[in-house]
Amino acid sequence: MPDKGIFSLKGQVAVVIGGGGVLAGAMATGLAQAGAEIAILDVSKGSAEVRARSIETLGFKAIGLGCDATSKTGLEQALADVLKRFGHVDILVNAAGVNSGTPFFEITEEEWQRILNIDLTSVFLACQVFGKAMVDAGKGGSIINISSASSGPPLSKVFTYAVAKAGVNQITQFLARELAPNNIRVNAILPGFFPAEQNRKLLTDERVASIMGHTPMNRFGESSELVGAAVYLASRQASSFVTGSILRVDGGFTAMSI
Ligand SMILES: NC(=O)c1ccc[n+]([C@@H]2O[C@H](COP(=O)([O-])OP(=O)(O)OC[C@H]3O[C@@H](n4cnc5c(N)ncnc54)[C@H](O)[C@@H]3O)[C@@H](O)[C@H]2O)c1
Repeated sequence: MPDKGIFSLKGQVAVVIGGGGVLAGAMATGLAQAGAEIAILDVSKGSAEVRARSIETLGFKAIGLGCDATSKTGLEQALADVLKRFGHVDILVNAAGVNSGTPFFEITEEEWQRILNIDLTSVFLACQVFGKAMVDAGKGGSIINISSASSGPPLSKVFTYAVAKAGVNQITQFLARELAPNNIRVNAILPGFFPAEQNRKLLTDERVASIMGHTPMNRFGESSELVGAAVYLASRQASSFVTGSILRVDGGFTAMSI
């Protein structure tokens, strides 16, 4: 293992929810490369296991667990499995996500609830379950929520998603204050636009042109470009005085007006 200096995560255990997906999967691999042991949780057990195996192939420790992050009992079971395997939890990444471009007047209550459950309630529940484990262990920790450029000012098309992500920012800043006495830091990463499964259908030619016109770096992000932010926020040393922050990794998208 190369010396990672102030960015070393050696001896820490990271739970990455949604880690079977594109962005969180890349972050999980990056956290492992920085020294953390990794538990991938995803509603898709298969994709969680695939990512865990790929991390193990690189020579690091990882497990993949099927877990619906909208279920508190499911998260509690996953916590028990993680504690059994690794003994503690120090880092939590909340990155389960779905999206939809349904026009406002056509959004059903079912769709509204489904998206809020996955994108917002999962963050609330995981912070309760894993945050409590961190509090009880008394050794501090780092929670990293995945926000979005849609969290405000809102993007067009993704109404419910944008509402959920605004809530994720609120959870982040509220809990930063709530958990600071326990030395648990709570921050968010705000990615710009990265091609992934949940937004594949939304990226029409017209929308891509609009995104590029509003992104000073004039390109999509690569999932690997989120790793630095995740390792920084996870590291007890590198970001020891950082909590309640929302770190933008967006090629300048949210710095732009017209
Ligand atoms: N791709 C982007 O441009 C972008 C931009 C901003 C924010 N994000 C956020 O990044 C995060 C990761 O998304 P992605 O873009 O990699 O998409 P993705 O579809 O590749 O990954 C999302 C993952 O969440 C999992 N998931 C869905 N419901 C779940 C549940 N109930 N319990 C546990 N896991 C569940 C999916 O199985 C999938 O593996 C999401 O929170 C998303 O909102 C993505």
